[in-house]
Amino acid sequence: MSEILQEQSKYIALTSSIISAKARNNNTPIAMVRTYGCQQNVADSEKIKGILEKMGCEFTDEPDKADIIIYNTCAVREHAEDRVFGNVGALKNIKRKNPNLFIALCGCMMEQQHIADKIYKSFPFVNLVFGTHSIHKLPYLMYLSLNFKTRIVKIGDDDKLIHEGLPIKRDGTFKGWLPIMYGCDNFCTYCIVPYVRGRERSREPQIIFDEAKEMIQNGYKDITLLGQNVNSYGKNLNQDINFAKLLDTIANYEGDFWIRFMTSHPKDATKELIDTIAKNEKICNHIHLPFQSGSNRVLKAMNRNYTREKYLELVNYIREKIPDVSLTSDVIVGFPGETYEEFEETLSLIREVKFTSLFTFIYSPRVGTPAAKMDDPITYEEKARWMGELLKVQEEIAADRCASMVGKTYKVLVESEANTEGELSARNQENIVVEFEGDKNLIGQFVNVEITRARNWILKGKLLINE
Ligand code: SAH
Ligand code: SF4
Ligand code: F3S
Repeated sequence: MSEILQEQSKYIALTSSIISAKARNNNTPIAMVRTYGCQQNVADSEKIKGILEKMGCEFTDEPDKADIIIYNTCAVREHAEDRVFGNVGALKNIKRKNPNLFIALCGCMMEQQHIADKIYKSFPFVNLVFGTHSIHKLPYLMYLSLNFKTRIVKIGDDDKLIHEGLPIKRDGTFKGWLPIMYGCDNFCTYCIVPYVRGRERSREPQIIFDEAKEMIQNGYKDITLLGQNVNSYGKNLNQDINFAKLLDTIANYEGDFWIRFMTSHPKDATKELIDTIAKNEKICNHIHLPFQSGSNRVLKAMNRNYTREKYLELVNYIREKIPDVSLTSDVIVGFPGETYEEFEETLSLIREVKFTSLFTFIYSPRVGTPAAKMDDPITYEEKARWMGELLKVQEEIAADRCASMVGKTYKVLVESEANTEGELSARNQENIVVEFEGDKNLIGQFVNVEITRARNWILKGKLLINE
């Protein structure tokens, strides 16, 4: 254990006695951790919950029942931040009813000084604000705040290190996240992530291998390797490793499991990576490959470092090697200065590639990014109209794709009950949802399903009994 973590275990014990003395329920403090944003934040929240569990906490989703509330926030778009401001505002009444309630805000949004300042001024009932680089210090920060009854803001703490060895309380029992790297060095001109998450840092391969093995042994069947740009894994390590080799090693472990990964940046996707996915059955036939725009001028202004032609070349290579691959993507509509003609190039790329699904975003200016200073003459209403057009094109493509799957058989991982009518909800390797009748004891297991019907982008199927 590192020195910092040893020090933190001392504060876990100290904080634990303070929070259990204040707890309303038999000395057992109840915590609520709410996560906004992407899987990186979900994985961070699992560490925060791991720390709280070590302090003796149990967990709830209901703010009224909680003694400790932590919101792990996202800064990627204005809408994400507005939701947090609204939800934090609503905590005022809950704190009035329970003055002992401890409220902390963390995550990407808090790593921005102007936001941390605003929270400190506007929400005096918030006890602690800490950034993405300070999670390992949570026990110390909670102790300081609780013991000295003081409000604390701890951001900008980047020592460029990865603090390994934090406890993890995973949300799922068969589907799990495995971060392989943190931060981002790409500085796409619209994006806040490099500012709030810091420089790209890869975890040591052996630590990742050990964690993967442990997850497989503990019954995890769907493991997603996480990073803002997994394709540049290992660049800072000075070892004979890259993302393709990392994937290949894990895919060769014994056991019945699938591996996914996100996110892949098109500029760093290599043939070695595609060949590795193609030859390993355990690596899902699904690549999330954000293209953002179909116009070369806009891609350049975004600092994406690839062209439309390069992207399409990559897609062709992927389809040649993995014919049944499912491609999904992120796309931004209305980047500053984008014209309707340039937006039409995005539409034509969508028609050409035929993505299984798309995450679509209207451009949102982020304080401190280069794009926020660019001329942006198109109104939001006009951008929303373009978005409507795009969604219509994509809906038809997704429906066609689902229809083409009818009659085929897939191995799927059963995730949950789909409804109260005895149907289960599962996903295939391509990450498409299939619903079918079956016993809920199958949740967490792989089964084979024949697709009988497609309803828009949800597939209905029939459970095949294994011989
Ligand atoms: N690292 C990933 C993306 C992380 S952010 C990648 O590079 O692919 C997830 C998505 O949010 C991005 O792909 C982008 O489409 C979108 N996004 C990021 N900043 C945005 C902004 N300022 N406005 C609108 N969408 C944005
Ligand atoms: Fe943001 Fe670009 Fe980094 Fe993705 S690669 S996190 S879009 S800066
Ligand atoms: Fe949001 Fe931070 Fe993820 S800004 S998208 S939670 S890396």
